[in-house]
Amino acid sequence: MRVGHVWLVGAGPGDPGLMTVRGLEALRGADVVVYDRLINPTLLNEAPAEAIRIYAGKLTESHGLPQEDINALLIAHARRGRSVVRLKGGDPFVFGRGGEEAEALAASAIPFEVVPGVSAAVAVPAYAGIPLTHRRLASSFAVVTGHEDATRRAPHVDWSRLATAVDTLVILMGARSLPRIAATLVSCGRAPSTPVALIRWGTTEAQETMTCTLGDLADPQAALDLRPPLVTVIGDVVSLRDQLRWFDEEAGRTFDLAGPEVALPSPDANETETIELDVAVVAATDVPEEDRFAVAVVRRLCESARTRDGAAAVVEPVSSDVPGRDLRHACHLSSAEG
Ligand SMILES: C[S@@+](CC[C@H](N)C(=O)[O-])C[C@H]1O[C@@H](n2cnc3c(N)ncnc32)[C@H](O)[C@@H]1O
Repeated sequence: MRVGHVWLVGAGPGDPGLMTVRGLEALRGADVVVYDRLINPTLLNEAPAEAIRIYAGKLTESHGLPQEDINALLIAHARRGRSVVRLKGGDPFVFGRGGEEAEALAASAIPFEVVPGVSAAVAVPAYAGIPLTHRRLASSFAVVTGHEDATRRAPHVDWSRLATAVDTLVILMGARSLPRIAATLVSCGRAPSTPVALIRWGTTEAQETMTCTLGDLADPQAALDLRPPLVTVIGDVVSLRDQLRWFDEEAGRTFDLAGPEVALPSPDANETETIELDVAVVAATDVPEEDRFAVAVVRRLCESARTRDGAAAVVEPVSSDVPGRDLRHACHLSSAEG
């Protein structure tokens, strides 16, 4: 029987519009699609109805289906003469194990093609209004994994050298290791005031962005919500977001933390409003109770206002718990004179 063909296709970071034309062509001609967890499910509708769809995703950052099994699956279907699309999040060769799959295919003499994708490393910051380089602020960036391989004795990322070697650091994976990574970067010379953006579910309707400083991130007491999938950007370019954000502006789902002013969704509109911490009531409406990200941000705002030197403000938490879907009463800021 004629040997089939495997396409290692990058599906982009979530927005289906970021899939390449070449990738769509391959998908539309597929007999078999082997896809990962972060793939936008609407893309699977592009494959022919009769195509076999196989989920090979990961539930956590550790691997669900062992890599050897995925390789064997691709080879077995190709040997049956099928067109196999291996659909991977972002770009297949950026922390996607695409290199290992290509090695296995080459070793088994299976013809394959790589269709590069739009990596979350660049697209997610872009959707948060953060260019990774900028003539005034950054001439270099590095994309680094935050995930440590438990089977390795020594850490594979030399954070101490990276701390000051590049202008912008982009960290994929390892969300829960971020406080430890941030502390290492600070101890190795990166300024604690360096701006940081944490972007979850970037390029999708669920995109959430939180900004803070590297010092905040290093603080285990900050209780930041660091659930994956998260792209972390560290560097002065993050400060451009105030001016350049475009995608999440309309959604009003942005919480800026740090500094004397905060932007929160306005109580009666989908717009964000900027309010002075020391004279205003912190208000955030329509926030689901289970949205621990928002809850953590509002709590943090209360704490930072309370401790800010010289601020004519006191914080009166109306309730220690967040009441239902409305955070308007989570905390109340009032003037000391008032
Ligand atoms: C195994 S890596 C794969 C990266 C992928 N090959 C790429 O080029 O984008 C998965 C990590 O990418 C990041 N990621 C992927 N899609 C994302 C998204 N839509 N929003 C935020 N982070 C995302 C997260 O850090 C996640 O843990």
